[in-house]
Amino acid sequence: MRFLRTLITLLALLSGAGVSHAAPDAAAAQARLAKDAICTKCHDETESRPLFLYQTKHGVRGDSRAPTCQSCHGESTAHATQEKNRPSPDVNFNKGGAYPTAHAKARGQSCMTCHQGGNRMHWDGGQHQRAGLACNDCHKVHQPKDNVLTKATQPEVCYGCHKTQRAETHKISTHPIVAGKVTCSDCHNPHGTNSNKLVKRANVNDTCFNCHAEKRGPFLWQHTSANDDCMNCHTPHGSNVAPLLKVRGPWLCQRCHAEVANHPGNIYSGAQLPGAPAVGNNPPVQVAFRGCFNCHQAIHGSNHPAGRNFLR
Ligand code: HEC
Ligand code: HEC
Ligand code: HEC
Ligand code: HEC
Ligand code: HEC
Ligand code: HEC
Ligand code: HEC
Ligand code: HEC
Ligand code: HEC
Ligand code: HEC
Repeated sequence: MRFLRTLITLLALLSGAGVSHAAPDAAAAQARLAKDAICTKCHDETESRPLFLYQTKHGVRGDSRAPTCQSCHGESTAHATQEKNRPSPDVNFNKGGAYPTAHAKARGQSCMTCHQGGNRMHWDGGQHQRAGLACNDCHKVHQPKDNVLTKATQPEVCYGCHKTQRAETHKISTHPIVAGKVTCSDCHNPHGTNSNKLVKRANVNDTCFNCHAEKRGPFLWQHTSANDDCMNCHTPHGSNVAPLLKVRGPWLCQRCHAEVANHPGNIYSGAQLPGAPAVGNNPPVQVAFRGCFNCHQAIHGSNHPAGRNFLR
């Protein structure tokens, strides 16, 4: 049997010479494998949907914290012993298999016996828990590779449910998500947070400052109200207006600066601006109405003594 070969290989590895603390580990590992055997006598890597548990961290039988089959699936005694009308294992994670799927709460609880706290402190009450997700909607524990844990393969797992974000990451201006340099969990904690939209830090800005620290300031001249939330001007995933802007030039600013009564040249009435190339009396459209930030370049804040208007 494949299982027996696996068992023998594992025991051979664990009792390998040169590992000083091998003896107690090997004994514990053996005990754990013996428990597994209650299940592995029928389920192993030769199944049509193979179980590669022993190629994952959960399968490290020398690790005293690692689960046996029953730590996750429950004792399942009736399932393991009753030949006729075999009932479901206590906790069945599968969808569309031989038995009904256990309630999300039971599936989550099974993992949380070991994974409570830390990153998952806000799991209960978080958006994903409330939406009825369980851990195995993202994690694959019987696969040699759990795609959601790797930067490059993680987004694909999320797009399974979040299709809009996939489309956004293909726009003209994006975070380098497609390139695999930035991934969803760089900004989100999918396990649940205190913040809105599952952003990793207390709020959006702190999340952005993780990588764009230079935007934090403090600045001599602060565009305070605008920078209260980077999302006043930017989108996180993708936009057709670079760099990641919500809308184009003047409209971006005019949502808040509808009237600038004393603006030099009174751009709102279309008169000539100081510093703008002179073309008659009207400001060239491309200057005044394409980009306020052609002139107001230090838009996040300025440390220049004359930077009150974020011109430098
Ligand atoms: C005597 C054989 C036998 C033993 C022992 C056994 N099972 Fe099963 N198990 C089955 C059969 C048969 C099925 C149905 C499989 C199928 O139809 O694909 C099954 C199905 C399952 C399923 C999948 C359910 C689904 O809906 O796809 C899980 C999970 C499972 N068993 C876990 C366990 C666990 C955990 C143990 C140990 C406590 C265990 N089994 C012990 C025979 C066994
Ligand atoms: C860390 C928790 C955990 C442990 C340990 C674990 N399982 Fe599972 N098992 C799951 C989850 C979760 C699924 C659902 C598939 C998935 O999401 O990877 C599953 C699915 C299964 C299935 C159905 C497989 C399928 O895809 O049809 C069987 C059978 C099974 N487990 C048996 C076992 C056996 C036997 C062991 C011990 C060798 C074991 N499990 C150990 C969590 C666990
Ligand atoms: C009996 C305790 C126990 C249970 C139950 C358990 N785990 Fe784990 N889990 C561990 C241990 C131990 C590790 C390895 C931690 C380490 O190496 O730092 C681990 C690691 C992990 C990792 C990280 C794997 C990696 O490659 O880095 C994930 C993801 C995970 N578990 C998910 C789950 C899920 C999902 C469930 C429920 C289906 C579950 N665990 C149930 C003990 C458990
Ligand atoms: C919506 C998808 C999703 C769900 C649902 C989910 N996880 Fe995760 N999990 C992730 C992602 C993404 C990472 C990688 C996070 C990172 O790199 O910071 C991760 C990492 C982990 C890790 C390894 C890193 C660590 O924090 O120790 C463990 C353990 C883990 N998850 C356990 C769980 C458990 C237990 C549950 C259910 C209560 C669960 N996860 C539910 C997406 C999910
Ligand atoms: C099985 C489907 C599923 C998967 C997989 C999934 N999500 Fe979700 N996600 C949901 C549902 C359902 C909600 C709640 C929807 C709502 O409240 O509008 C949600 C909510 C969210 C929210 C909060 C939305 C809001 O408006 O507050 C974020 C952020 C999020 N998910 C990110 C992720 C990330 C990142 C991943 C991958 C690591 C992921 N999701 C994987 C189904 C999923
Ligand atoms: C650079 C940081 C960052 C990255 C990377 C990122 N997000 Fe977001 N995401 C955010 C922020 C910030 C918000 C909140 C937007 C707001 O408040 O308007 C958000 C919102 C969301 C929402 C809620 C709906 C919405 O658009 O407001 C979902 C769902 C979501 N993200 C999923 C994902 C997925 C899936 C990935 C990976 C493909 C991902 N995010 C990558 C920062 C990020
Ligand atoms: C994990 C690190 C990380 C986080 C967190 C992060 N970014 Fe970025 N950001 C990057 C990288 C990497 C680039 C690409 C830089 C490059 O191409 O030179 C980038 C580029 C940008 C750009 C320029 C895009 C373009 O088209 O040139 C903007 C705007 C931006 N980020 C805003 C934000 C905002 C707003 C947040 C918070 C929601 C945020 N970033 C969070 C890493 C991050
Ligand atoms: C008032 C609108 C506005 C707000 C609020 C804003 N930005 Fe920007 N941001 C812009 C504009 C406009 C540009 C493009 C500047 C240019 O092209 O000269 C830009 C460019 C960027 C860039 C890429 C170019 C560079 O300067 O590095 C990053 C990164 C960035 N912003 C991050 C942030 C972060 C982080 C926040 C929140 C603290 C934020 N922005 C808040 C308007 C804003
Ligand atoms: C979310 C609203 C908001 C947006 C969007 C916004 N601003 Fe502001 N801006 C303000 C507020 C409020 C002030 C007042 C001073 C303060 O609180 O920092 C201000 C101050 C200024 C000032 C300094 C002069 C003064 O009155 O103190 C300039 C210049 C300016 N903004 C230009 C721009 C430009 C250019 C854009 C577009 C890239 C823009 N703003 C987008 C809210 C906004
Ligand atoms: C051709 C360059 C240029 C363009 C384009 C431009 N500005 Fe200005 N803006 C200036 C200068 C120069 C000042 C400061 C004059 C001074 O020091 O009195 C200023 C001042 C301001 C002030 C502060 C006015 C006050 O009352 O103190 C605001 C707000 C402002 N601009 C917003 C905008 C907005 C919004 C746009 C786009 C619709 C824009 N600007 C386009 C050059 C420009």
